[in-house]
Amino acid sequence: MTESEYAGALRDADAADVVIVGAGPAGLVLGNILLSHGVDCVVLERADRDAVENRARAGFLVPHTVRVLERNGLDAGLRRRGREHGVCEFRTEDGRFRLDYRRLGLGEPHTVYPQHDLVADLLGLYLDAGGRVRFGTEAVAVSDADGPTPAVTAREADGRPARHRARYVAACDGRHGVGRRSLPPGTARHHHDHGVSWLGLLAEAPPSLDAVGYAIHPRGFAGHMARSADLTRYYLQCAPGTRADAWSDDRIWDELALRMRASAYGPLVRGPIAQRAVVDLESDVIEPLRHGSLFLVGDAAALISPSAAKGANLAVLEAEILGRALVDALVHGDPGGLDRYSERCLPHIWRAQEFSRWMIRLLHALPDPDGDPLFRERLRQARIAGLRDFASAQHWFAENYTGI
Ligand code: APR
Repeated sequence: MTESEYAGALRDADAADVVIVGAGPAGLVLGNILLSHGVDCVVLERADRDAVENRARAGFLVPHTVRVLERNGLDAGLRRRGREHGVCEFRTEDGRFRLDYRRLGLGEPHTVYPQHDLVADLLGLYLDAGGRVRFGTEAVAVSDADGPTPAVTAREADGRPARHRARYVAACDGRHGVGRRSLPPGTARHHHDHGVSWLGLLAEAPPSLDAVGYAIHPRGFAGHMARSADLTRYYLQCAPGTRADAWSDDRIWDELALRMRASAYGPLVRGPIAQRAVVDLESDVIEPLRHGSLFLVGDAAALISPSAAKGANLAVLEAEILGRALVDALVHGDPGGLDRYSERCLPHIWRAQEFSRWMIRLLHALPDPDGDPLFRERLRQARIAGLRDFASAQHWFAENYTGI
């Protein structure tokens, strides 16, 4: 269909006060908050419901995220099946040490709850409350965002084009979504490639440690994070460009055992590798997060590396800030929160970016084209030793690790 035929065939579909693009953590927390305050909204989601509810992602919630879900009545599933996590175990060539961060810093633990379970909860609550979701609907453009009646053009499940008019548009559609593609030319995008790639794995096996495991080894980093009683997330640092299917299950388990020093600290609980993907660790931040009637939320606002598991937590924080601002504007006639949305979110985003970068430098021997690699390696070892030996460093770590 040519662009003009497309435009000619365009028909008006669901209009709403707020059109939300994307049914991930950002979009669904926002949708539930708006709906609970009587704001008319519709969610456009390109995937089908089954795909949305079964996409394994993160699952490591900071206390602030739990509080947001709790005060918006979205925490029932989390309360039933979430598990507290409060200890990290670092394994290096100098031995291992445990850091009980629950006891330090803010004195609060993480809650481990698989993100696809959280998304399924949020979706169910939203639909049960009468929320509208258009599955199989791919947004292709946001128009008139600089005016009072923006519109989202989408390809509906039946392949036909449709236009969704709105008062505001919330782009909760990730880093490759239509929200970013609709930003005005010259919008600032601050980007950093960390030069590290991870083979991310989801094993159908119970956790091997009672802690979050960070293994630093001359062959590379390995990570262990429980997802549930019978699912465990592992990471293996790999060469950039590695293909996810290049590693057999046996090779993966042998490499994990080697780097996590299983011979010294106990075997890993093995099982089938259910999911695998290579992720190149990079970060970016869009500034500002508001462009007229268009707002960026979650990964659409800022991509953060998984090194400190902040992504979904930032998405929830931003969704609540925007949700409250939209309610103030649409229900109470006060647009002040919308004007302050970007300046309220960016400090939290940059602080999370800084700590995630610090974690990457702590856990990986990073390439250093113009420096002495041994000098950097000794600095890294000193940072690890400082975390092991100094209470002040441990308090700082705990506050940043669980903070948002
Ligand atoms: N039209 C409709 N839906 C879209 C489009 C589009 N053009 N592009 C993307 N989507 C949908 C995706 O199918 C997905 O369901 O938007 C949703 C984006 O969800 P997430 O990628 O989970 O992003 P977000 O809600 O910001 O959550 C961020 O959660 O995915 C984890 O840890 C990850 O940091 C990330 C965090």
